[in-house]
Amino acid sequence: MKLRDSGMPGEAYWETLFDVPLILDRLGVNASLRDVAELGCGYGTFTLPVARRISGTLRTFDIEPDMAERTRQRADKAGVRNIVCSVRDVMTESFGVEAASQDACLLFNILHGEEPIRLLAEAARVVRPGGAVLAIHWRCDLPTPRGPDLEIRPRPEQILSWAVRTGQLEAGPVLELPPWHYGVRLARVAPKPLSS
Ligand SMILES: C[S@@+](CC[C@H](N)C(=O)[O-])C[C@H]1O[C@@H](n2cnc3c(N)ncnc32)[C@H](O)[C@@H]1O
Repeated sequence: MKLRDSGMPGEAYWETLFDVPLILDRLGVNASLRDVAELGCGYGTFTLPVARRISGTLRTFDIEPDMAERTRQRADKAGVRNIVCSVRDVMTESFGVEAASQDACLLFNILHGEEPIRLLAEAARVVRPGGAVLAIHWRCDLPTPRGPDLEIRPRPEQILSWAVRTGQLEAGPVLELPPWHYGVRLARVAPKPLSS
């Protein structure tokens, strides 16, 4: 099931909308992370820079074959070898990655989709205790040049509350990621039962 409003504008325009090094610095993406999973590589906007920073493998998944192919092409051209890019519907098939096997899981520009708590729980499942789910999204408190409708766009405190409701994640500080985004680092804790 392709998540609602998860289509992309053109690649060149999309990539003017982020300060990727700043975002990755503030989220703590560096060589202390070994293996990482990502839902929705898109054009590989974050995939390649993340893969260059981490010390292990970046497993990335996209439901759209064209997006996976574009990311593979860019990785090949750039000689970035630690990316495994697969076409997969993560919502119906899960990440297909062993539980507690990743240092981090990236949910970038995607938590406006259906069933965000189920998605956060699946992301938490693949992360080892002590690792983190890292999420970014479009700000809701100012007009942004792109991003899903405000009706479905999550506010930072909503993401933090959903994360806690998985019983597997702890809320962290909300990070400013100018110009248009905010981010959250959700630490993986030992599993607890789902609360309603
Ligand atoms: C808004 S884009 C964000 C891409 C990338 N994370 C970024 O921030 O540049 C969302 C991506 O998620 C993919 N996607 C949507 N639903 C998905 C699903 N169920 N499983 C895997 N990928 C999905 C879309 O095809 C799209 O490439």
